[in-house]
Amino acid sequence: MNAVDPSLDAAPIADWRSYPISTGLVGLSSTSDSLEVTWSDARTSPFHHQWLRDNCTCSQCVYSVTREQLFEIVDVPPELHPQRTRIDQQGHLLIDWQDGHHSRFHPGWLRAHAYDDASRAERRALRPQSRLWGAEMGEQLPQFDYQAVMEDDAALLQWLLAVRDIGLTQLRGVPTSEDVLPVLAKRISFIRQSNFGVLFDVQSKADADSNAYTSFNLPLHTDLPTRELQPGLQFLHCLVNDATGGESVFVDGFAIAAALQQEAPELFQILCDTPIEFRNRSRTSDYHRMAPIIGLDAYGVISEIRMGNFLRGAFDAPAERMPALYSAYRRFIEMTREPRFRVQRRLDAGQLWCFDNRRTLHARTEFDPASGARHFKGCYVDRDELLSRIHVLQR
Ligand code: OGA
Ligand code: ZN
Ligand code: ZN
Repeated sequence: MNAVDPSLDAAPIADWRSYPISTGLVGLSSTSDSLEVTWSDARTSPFHHQWLRDNCTCSQCVYSVTREQLFEIVDVPPELHPQRTRIDQQGHLLIDWQDGHHSRFHPGWLRAHAYDDASRAERRALRPQSRLWGAEMGEQLPQFDYQAVMEDDAALLQWLLAVRDIGLTQLRGVPTSEDVLPVLAKRISFIRQSNFGVLFDVQSKADADSNAYTSFNLPLHTDLPTRELQPGLQFLHCLVNDATGGESVFVDGFAIAAALQQEAPELFQILCDTPIEFRNRSRTSDYHRMAPIIGLDAYGVISEIRMGNFLRGAFDAPAERMPALYSAYRRFIEMTREPRFRVQRRLDAGQLWCFDNRRTLHARTEFDPASGARHFKGCYVDRDELLSRIHVLQR
């Protein structure tokens, strides 16, 4: 009954996104607390009255400059009803409310936010998914050219999508001067500073305040597990690597956690449930965090790994749980040592690693500082900045 007006197609709804009208509204029916909408592809979607009132986009309800809501749902009674509902000439849903307020909903926006089971399943399938990897990643390393990433937004986006979905990337052709890294990082966003500086120098130092600043073998870890929020992305830029040894090692922490969940669900659960102490102390700083090794997001999906044996405190758990905690911890570290998960590569001058520090564990093999110089420059950028930059580039 309502032809879709092509001029409305992809109309932006005040939040930089566009909502193409792939399906039109063809019918409305009311229940006691909701409106049931029928679409031109025969799907039906319930919209509760409160939900519709809450999402009114009129200029009284949303401030058009900030695109943020002014209205709060508690300012109307929970039983507020539409007095009249209809579909207008342009295919919009119009609602006149009992209290005299009017709302108008764009069909593309409504469809994109419908919460019937089919619509929610469609959205779930569209959420970015981590591509898990193992040793084979050594031959398929996502490599990007520094100059291209700096000059071309399309190349930048390709790189950032790989960081998001794979969590391990390499840049080549990076000039070996010390001031290049912040310029590159700022191509994404601002840098996350820490007690080790805005930029940190990974070099063997006499008065080291971290095992990272020695020539020792550094086992697989995430950086700053001692913090409430571990840094999202880590950059390691090789200025010189003439020493014998000192190769980079990576494992996909999500792949190991997923394999552990398959092989030994009870051990996986312990690593999700047990807070572990991570700490790092120096003369001038004292960091401490209790958190599980495997973090799940609100959907129950593996979203974070926290690991650094050299930064770990003594386990504190109920006595009857201690043997199982050690079994789980040992199994996780054993898995990080299994060749099926490991990528080992030497980083040469002019190359740079960029990886998801909350997913991809990194390590360094021992090197001989007498055999030659080794100097990496590092910095962090948070995951939120990566995701925001991707969204802006995709607009
Ligand atoms: C670090 C680190 C790796 C390397 O500084 O945290 O992991 O190759 N360095 O030296
Ligand atoms: Zn309104
Ligand atoms: Zn590190």
